Amino acid sequence: MRLLFVGAPAVGKGTQAKKLAEALGVPHISTGDILRGTARENTPLGQKVKQFIDLGSLVPDELMMSIIEERFRRGDTPKGYILDGFPRTTAQAMGLDLLLARLRQPIDLVLLFECPDDVIMQRIIERRSCPKCGAPYHLRWQKPKKDDVCDLDGTPLVQRVDDTRTKVFHRLAQYRSETAAVIPYFEKRGLVRRVNADQPPDAVYRDVEAVVAKR
Ligand code: AP5
Repeated sequence: MRLLFVGAPAVGKGTQAKKLAEALGVPHISTGDILRGTARENTPLGQKVKQFIDLGSLVPDELMMSIIEERFRRGDTPKGYILDGFPRTTAQAMGLDLLLARLRQPIDLVLLFECPDDVIMQRIIERRSCPKCGAPYHLRWQKPKKDDVCDLDGTPLVQRVDDTRTKVFHRLAQYRSETAAVIPYFEKRGLVRRVNADQPPDAVYRDVEAVVAKR
C-alpha cells in the first residue's frame, strides 16, 4: 500500500503513520524526522535546514526533492510506503509524481487528516517527543509510562523548538497558503480520503484502517 498522509501541523499524522506503517510492514517516511536528523548534523546542509525548521518555515522545494529522491534510493519502498509531511507544495506534488512514475510506485491513496485549529494548538503546546526514535507523546493524552522518558528507548523527551504558539500560527498560515493546494491536485484523480482527526488516537486509527481496507 502506497499512502500519503496530509494535514495541518500536529493533526496527528505522525502518530497514525507510525502505527499503520508497523502494521503494514512498510517504511514510514516522515520528512520532518529526516530534516530534524539532518539539522542535528554539524554540516553546512544541517545548519541551513535547521534555520528553516526552527522558524517553522518550509524548506525550499529543490532541496526537499533531492532529500526525498535520496530517501527512495534506499530501495525499501517497492512493497509500499507511508509518506508523512510530503508533499507540502504543488511543486513538490508534481516532482513526487515524476519520481514515483519513474520508480513505478504510484500513490494508491492520500489520507487527509482534519481537526479544528484550537485542538491543534492544544496538541502542539503539550507535545513531547523522543529525540532518538521520534516517538510522539502528549502530556495529557499520550503520556509516557515513566515521566519525561521515552517508553521505547528510555531517552529523555524534549519539546520541539518550533512548537511555540507564535510558530504554530506561522505553520498553520503556511499550511493554508501552500500545502492546502495539494489537496485539489490529488482530488482531481479521486485519491483523497478524509479522516476525522478530532477523536482519541485509537478511534482515528480505526477510521484509518477502514479507509485503507476499502481500497
Ligand atoms: P513535521 O515534523 O512534518 O511537522 P508538521 O507537519 O507540522 O507535523 P507535526 O510533526 O507537527 O505533527 P503530526 O501531524 O505528525 O502530529 P503528531 O502525531 O506528532 O515538519 C517539521 C518542519 O520540517 C516543518 O515545519 C518544515 O519546516 C519542515 N518540513 C517538513 N516537511 C517538509 C516539506 N515537505 N517541505 C518543506 N519543509 C518541510 O501529534 C501531535 C501531538 O498530538 C502529539 O503530542 C501526539 O501525542 C498528540 N496526538 C496525536 N493524535 C492525537 C489524538 N487523536 N488525540 C489527542 N492527541 C493526539
